Amino acid sequence: MRKALIILGLILVPLFLIAAKYDFLLEMGEKTVKSSECNECHKVIYEEWSAKDFHSKAFVSIAFKKGSKDYGAEECIGCHAAQENADEKNLKLRPVHTGEGINCTTCHLRNNMIYGPYKLTAKHKSEQDESMLKSEFCAGCHGPTFQEWQAGGSKKTCQECHMPRVERKVVQGFLLSMVVPNRMVGQHLMSYDKLLKEAALLTGETGKGSVKISLTNRAGGHNMPTGKYGDYRVVLNTQVKDTDGKTIFSKEETFSTLKKNGVPPQQTIAFEYPISFEMGKRYKVNSSLLYQIEGKSGQLIASWNGEV
Ligand code: HEC
Ligand code: HEC
Ligand code: HEC
Ligand code: HEC
Ligand code: HEC
Repeated sequence: MRKALIILGLILVPLFLIAAKYDFLLEMGEKTVKSSECNECHKVIYEEWSAKDFHSKAFVSIAFKKGSKDYGAEECIGCHAAQENADEKNLKLRPVHTGEGINCTTCHLRNNMIYGPYKLTAKHKSEQDESMLKSEFCAGCHGPTFQEWQAGGSKKTCQECHMPRVERKVVQGFLLSMVVPNRMVGQHLMSYDKLLKEAALLTGETGKGSVKISLTNRAGGHNMPTGKYGDYRVVLNTQVKDTDGKTIFSKEETFSTLKKNGVPPQQTIAFEYPISFEMGKRYKVNSSLLYQIEGKSGQLIASWNGEV
């Protein structure tokens, strides 16, 4: 057993220490590597970022292309394809691979060094930056949302909701990745089904001459929806139908970043709709909440059904 460990150590130590071989990963400016270089070893994180995290679509997004006047507006692209994470005034455009939007190097590379939240021995040089675990890390680009978060007093950080931890390996795909232990890793998801499904609570009450619908921002990290630049919407649609399936009432309420009327954290907004029900007849009430981002398909995130 001991012998095996020593042999394993003899193989592992040099392989992890010859970090210089990977110094090209630390280059910046014109030589900044593509995220596919990180995919050599961080396959699962790369897959999450490229398939699920809209940071990877920040540049190619059709709404962004249109809004930035076909990439003519420099003040927009400096953030949507930033070289490195900085405060709002110091964000600079990454001169290469702009199509990757907010990529691995935007968040992890600074001063020709890869920063991570822990203190691991990587194949490449890396340094610990514990601020990556704090909401402040997201504040340079997400200023207004960060302020809502601060004012709302949420006990969770942005990362705890948007990058939930799971036990797995940080690396995959090279021979010795098999002996790297499992860790509690922050998934690179940002907005995902489970988070959206728990975001809001929708309840209703039916009375003699009215229907009352209440919407609560249950997640409570910030306004629902939040944002300064994009067109994010939460649309509440309430319908009343009689037994023949005929719609006798229909109403839509929109909460949007453009209207700046997002539901504040932990707050409930109620609507009471007067409806003239006929005596002796039965009705079905359906209320649904749709989450929409301009240019992307909408998603049902909550609903309530009642009867009169
Ligand atoms: C360098 C700037 C930058 C940094 C740093 C940054 N973001 Fe973003 N974020 C953006 C941009 C730009 C978008 C819009 C992406 C798009 O086009 O949909 C965005 C979108 C998002 C979204 C919405 C995703 C969706 O599904 O629509 C979430 C959630 C988010 N960011 C969370 C975070 C968190 C949490 C952090 C900190 C760990 C963070 N961001 C750091 C720029 C940044
Ligand atoms: C929007 C910023 C952002 C982007 C883009 C991003 N990361 Fe991260 N990354 C973070 C933050 C913040 C943490 C710490 C999360 C935590 O542990 O709560 C982290 C953690 C990590 C870790 C440590 C293990 C873990 O998941 O906790 C690795 C490795 C990593 N990222 C690699 C990558 C790679 C590879 C890419 C590109 C495919 C990438 N990251 C893209 C912000 C980002
Ligand atoms: C040749 C393989 C390899 C490549 C390529 C690679 N990494 Fe890593 N990285 C590792 C290993 C190994 C670890 C440590 C894993 C462990 O101990 O669980 C690591 C750890 C990390 C960490 C966590 C550091 C800490 O202490 O928190 C970050 C962040 C990271 N890598 C980012 C990147 C980024 C960004 C890229 C692309 C620019 C990249 N890596 C490319 C092998 C690689
Ligand atoms: C308590 C959990 C929680 C925390 C903490 C949290 N968020 Fe969110 N975030 C959500 C939920 C749920 C949604 C989707 C519904 C919504 O809009 O509220 C969301 C959506 C977003 C969006 C997309 C726009 C939108 O409103 O749908 C962005 C951008 C975002 N969050 C950024 C952040 C940033 C930056 C922080 C930290 C300052 C943060 N979030 C903290 C739960 C959280
Ligand atoms: C400081 C960084 C920053 C700057 C500068 C910036 N954005 Fe964004 N953008 C974001 C963040 C963060 C989000 C996600 C939430 C929000 O709207 O705040 C976003 C989201 C968006 C979205 C919605 C998601 C998408 O890609 O479809 C559009 C469209 C957009 N921005 C367009 C623009 C335009 C046009 C400009 C220039 C006038 C601009 N942005 C400047 C950070 C920035």
